Amino acid sequence: MNEFAGRSAIVTGGASGIGLATARLLAARGARVAVLDLDPTGVPDPLVGVRSDVTDNASVTSAVAEVVERFGGLDVLVNNAGIGAAGTVEANGLDEWHRVLDVNLLGLVRVTRAALPALRRSDAAAIVNVCSIVATAGLPDRALYSASKGAVLSLTRAMAVDHVGEGIRVNCVNPGTVDTPWIGRLLGAADDPAAELAALQARQPTGRLVAMDEVAHAIAYLASPHAASVTGTDVAVDGGMYGLRVRQR
Ligand code: NAI
Repeated sequence: MNEFAGRSAIVTGGASGIGLATARLLAARGARVAVLDLDPTGVPDPLVGVRSDVTDNASVTSAVAEVVERFGGLDVLVNNAGIGAAGTVEANGLDEWHRVLDVNLLGLVRVTRAALPALRRSDAAAIVNVCSIVATAGLPDRALYSASKGAVLSLTRAMAVDHVGEGIRVNCVNPGTVDTPWIGRLLGAADDPAAELAALQARQPTGRLVAMDEVAHAIAYLASPHAASVTGTDVAVDGGMYGLRVRQR
């Protein structure tokens, strides 16, 4: 399992959760991996931490240039940095709408635009966007977050067709509820964390949260040469949440 030997990758939001699990897996499989994050200080070796805010175009362009220079190119981009928002369409103020879309959608746009020139020079270029179950199923109190990830899903397909002729594949993963520090914070803020966890687990047909490594393996597959004929797809890693209707006992 050394399919990324000689390859280099960027993982945004790679200092925590799904991004960190993905960065570690790509590195274990031979890639040189740079993590772009607001705070990359705790990122373990051999990952290269680069401080960058995906809402700041100057910060993104200089971080991507630094990585491309350091690694001598770029083959894989994982657009993972994202933030959450709870509420109905009227619950979040317009400032919050701008803030979340700026990270989850425009952040992806900024990093991709900065990375495309280097990806075009790769003979095995792949972009994997971290989308969500909320792009394909209506979940309560997630209007703004769903809008941001629905845009990521549509943009994934649009980018896939625009760049297929250049040899750049573009796919996304749609995780269900994943056991990451993000969900830990969400549970910590709940009135009854145990009841909230039980409700999240029950929502998934498998009866448990998705593990970070399970999402990382799907991302690594989509980024790898094994997926050379896979582009414009979304892979659900959601414990069956999107497609299955289990009989309640
Ligand atoms: P996390 O909160 O553990 O990690 C997110 C990372 O993104 C953090 O290291 C944070 O510093 C970084 N980040 C946030 N804003 C940034 C910015 N402006 N610039 C650069 N880095 C920034 O979150 P988690 O759970 O690992 O989520 C990662 C991705 O997976 C997100 O896009 C999220 O929407 C998506 N996702 C998560 C699910 C879950 O249940 N945890 C389910 C479905 C999708």
